[in-house]
Parts: sequence; structure tokens; C-alpha cells
Amino acid sequence: MFEDEALKILKTSGIKNIEKLEVPHQEEFGDLSFPCYELAKEQKRNPVEIANDIVSKIKVPKNSIIERVEVKGAYVNFFFNYSKFSQLMLKTILSRKENYGGSNGKKDKIMIEYSSPNTNKPLHVGHLRNDSIGMSVSNILEFLGNKVIRTAIINDRGVHICKSMLAYQKWGNGKTPQKSKIKPDHFVGNFYVMFEKKLKENPKLEEDIHAMLQKWENGDKEVRTLWKLMNGWVLSGMRETYNLFGSKFDFWTYESEIYDKGKDILEEGIKKDVFIKNEQGDLVAKLEPELPNKVVLRADGTSVYITQDMSLARMRFEKYKMDKMIYVVASEQNLHFKQLFKILQLLGYGWYGSCHHLSYGLVNLPSGRMKTREGNVVDADDLIREETELAKQEILKRDKKISKKELEDRGRKIALAAIKYYLLKVEPIKDVLFDPNKATSFEGDTGPYIQYAYMRCANILNKVKKWEKNLLNKEMHPGEKKLIKTLSMFPSVILQTSNDLKPNYICNYAFELSNTFNNFYENHRVINAETKNLKNFRLSLVDATKIVLASCLKLMGIETVEKM
Ligand code: ARG
Repeated sequence: MFEDEALKILKTSGIKNIEKLEVPHQEEFGDLSFPCYELAKEQKRNPVEIANDIVSKIKVPKNSIIERVEVKGAYVNFFFNYSKFSQLMLKTILSRKENYGGSNGKKDKIMIEYSSPNTNKPLHVGHLRNDSIGMSVSNILEFLGNKVIRTAIINDRGVHICKSMLAYQKWGNGKTPQKSKIKPDHFVGNFYVMFEKKLKENPKLEEDIHAMLQKWENGDKEVRTLWKLMNGWVLSGMRETYNLFGSKFDFWTYESEIYDKGKDILEEGIKKDVFIKNEQGDLVAKLEPELPNKVVLRADGTSVYITQDMSLARMRFEKYKMDKMIYVVASEQNLHFKQLFKILQLLGYGWYGSCHHLSYGLVNLPSGRMKTREGNVVDADDLIREETELAKQEILKRDKKISKKELEDRGRKIALAAIKYYLLKVEPIKDVLFDPNKATSFEGDTGPYIQYAYMRCANILNKVKKWEKNLLNKEMHPGEKKLIKTLSMFPSVILQTSNDLKPNYICNYAFELSNTFNNFYENHRVINAETKNLKNFRLSLVDATKIVLASCLKLMGIETVEKM
């Protein structure tokens, strides 16, 4: 909003088509600046000359929040009047409260698919990254006034599912998770790992798998009964993990219910000459030379992953008529989604352009790449449990009298903050190196550190019984200025995050705000400020900081704590 004012002033000099200003990093360059290099190129003039020219022409209105405009090098620099600026900012934040930075105007209907597990094994840290990104992006889009539908496709049939089933059938001896006292999704996952081991010793097992898959597709009673039993186990275990982690969905779609619904799309594609038979008898989507061709129906008639995705996309768009469909899926599937969207385009679905793959990188371990098949994986439940233990130890160092129940509750909240933040602060497209020991460090660029800053604000405000808002301070200190300026940047950070779908922006911002606040608090007396007016002004600042930190945490999917 202050950028708009600076832009307006800039335009009084006669230049046009300027839409963005820079936020300089050094104080001497003021609060916003306009670099003249582009204009210089266009006009073939010296940029410093242009900057001087602009400043000599512009008119700053009397009551403007911009106090002065100066040339430094080839930049036109705008300096705020911080008393006015902070008055306006505090008024906005304290009146809009948790809506500050958000929007309630009706916008788009957006469906976001995330997590989407296979039901042959429990969730691992890769799913937690997926969920963290999916939830955070959903929260941000919702905050900006969009209607968000959260969904997942549960891949509950196919070769990988048959593997754990076959292992159980052969070597399970009728054991159950209840009798074995193992969490049911882990119980099933153990059979999956067992199968992969046995397969190495005996490659012939491959044939049994295909026989089982065939039986499943033909509705064989025995196979279906086993499938229902084991899927039920996995899903109940997963639900528990989702509840613990806070992953929320409006609904799930099960692959078993939709996998054979795409037949008419295949016919349509043949008619439109998008799909053709190859020499081996497979039906293939012609995508070359732009992309590799893609098999959409195997010669033996078994269904293919991408074909299910074609009909799933169509079902979703027909039923929900959304403006945008976001798939949060690992970067290993980049090609898959390129091919999928291209096929949808070739088939003539107008909405193909509304599909977006939010691709994210792997989560690697210090020991290398995770592989569930080999049991080298950070299990989601284990991770949450271990981090909770670490958090509890930290809490006990500070608070020996805490009740058991509270310790558990607070420990979990802090542990989840650590995990979510660790996974969110890396740009989605980059890989994360997950070092279980580092994630829960409670200092520096971590989730608990942000929770701590929030808690500090809350505690300060709780301590003072009576205070009144005071938005005006005539002589602002650098620490106060910096805090106001950081608070003022929140709305644009939110917009950027939603444009680029990169929740790491919010993490960076929340970290910066926490640091700025801590600096302010270390250098300024708040409750014992020199005058009552100053005390009320600083308490208003603390209140505004608390509001914005609470929003950041909420958007990252992190809960607040009252004590740490
Ligand atoms: N279950 C799949 C996997 O674990 C991911 C599904 C992604 N979503 C989709 N619509 N293809 O690899």
C-alpha cells in the first residue's frame, strides 16, 4: 500500500509504466527505491542524470507518508515518515487482527491434492514433506479468499499392494496387528519389506504377484477379502498418523473405485487420433517430439497409472468445476505430469491449462537416498515420536513441575513445529537433507524458535493488566522502525507465496520477523518504558507482532504454545 503511494509520486515526474519498486537493504537508501538503469537503456542516457531529473520534477503531497525523496547513485530513494507510517500500520494490523494480510473477496475454487499414499506401507518423512507443503499452500490460498478443496488419491490396488498381500498370505500365519501389538500400517509394511527380500532370493515370485493381481481384477473372493482386511489395517494406521500430524482432507478418492473408469477416454483418444497402437499391441499417446510417447493401455489390457489420472482429472473437473487443480507430488513424477497435462490438452479438455504440478524434491538421509523397499526410511510415526521425546527433554530442563499430560501435549506441538518448519523452509523444488538430530534444534532458523517469539509477545501482553493502544510515537528508534517495516511486508509476502506456491517464503519471513522482534525487545524497555505513552506504543507494537506471528504459524500449519 505504501508502494502505491511511492509509485504515484514517481509518476508525477512524467514517467509511466512503472509497476514495482525495490526494497533496499541498506538504511541509507531509504525504504523504497527506484533504479534508473532500465530507463537509461531505453533513453540512451546516463542513469544518474535520469534519477536527478526525476527528483527535480516530482511532487510530494503535503500529508504524504513519504517524507523525502533523494538520489543516491542511479536510484531514486523514498524515505518514510515513520511516525505516520507506524501509526497507519498499527491501525491496520490492530483493527484487522488475524485478517491482516488476508482477503475475503470471493476468488477461485481450487482443488489441491496432496499426500496420496499407497496402501502397502506406512507414511514416511517424504509424505510429511508433501503434507506440510500441501497444507500450508491450502491455508495460504484460503487466507486469500479462495475456496480450497483438500483431497488425496489413495492408491490402494495394483502390484505394490499385492506384494504385501502375497507375503502375508505365504508367511503371515494368520497373525494380526492386534495380536502382534504392532501399529496396523506398520504391520502391513513389514510384509512388504519381507516380500522384496524374498523376491531377491526367488525371482519366480514375480509370477505369483501377477496371478494375484489378475485374481483381484476378476473379483476373486478370497483375494478381495484379504485385500479388504489389509487395506483396512493400513488405512486405520494412516488415519492415526494424519490425525497426529494435523493433515486434513475434505475427501479421499480410492483408486480401486475409479481405476477402470477411463475406458471411454481411450476410445475418444483413438477417434481423435491422439492414441495409436504400437507394434507390441500397446495403446500409445503420441507426444513426440515434444515429450516421450506414453503407453496408456498395455497389450494385456491391464490399466496404467496415467490412464487413471486422465479419468480422475476429468471426474474432478466435471463434479467440482474448479478454477484450478494443484497436484502436490514428488519431482520424480515431473515427466508423468507433463505427459498427463499434454494428453488432456490433445484430448481437447479446455481445463487442461488449469492443472498445475507442485513438484517437490526428495528427502534424503545423511546415509543417502530413502528406499522403503530396503527398509532405509525415516518412518513418519517414529520421527514424530523421537522428536516429541527431544522436545520433552528440552521442556523438562525449563519446567520441572509440568504435569504429564501437559508435557505430552506441549512436547508434541513443539516437535511438530520443528518437523514442519524444517520441511517447509527449503524451497519445494530442492531436495531436503533430513538430519533427524538437527531438525529439533530449538534455536536459530527452526519452528520452535518462531513459536518462542510468539510466546514471548503473548507473555508480555499477559503480564500487563491495563494498557491502552497508542499508535503514535514521534521519535521512532531504529529497532522500532525495523519492526514496523517488517510487519508492513507481511501482505506482500503472502501474495508472493501464493503466486509462486513456495511456503519457504513464509518461513523466511517468520524467521526475520522473530529476529527483528527479539532485537527490538532486547534493546527497548516495553513494560518499563520511560513514559506511559511510550509503553502503550510499544505494547501496541508487541500486539501487532503477536498477531502477525500467529498468522505465520497458522499458515505454516503450526500450533502456538503458551509456555516453552
Ligand atoms: N500414490 C502415488 C505415489 O505414491 C502418488 C499419486 C499422485 N497423484 C496422482 N494423481 N497421480 O507415487
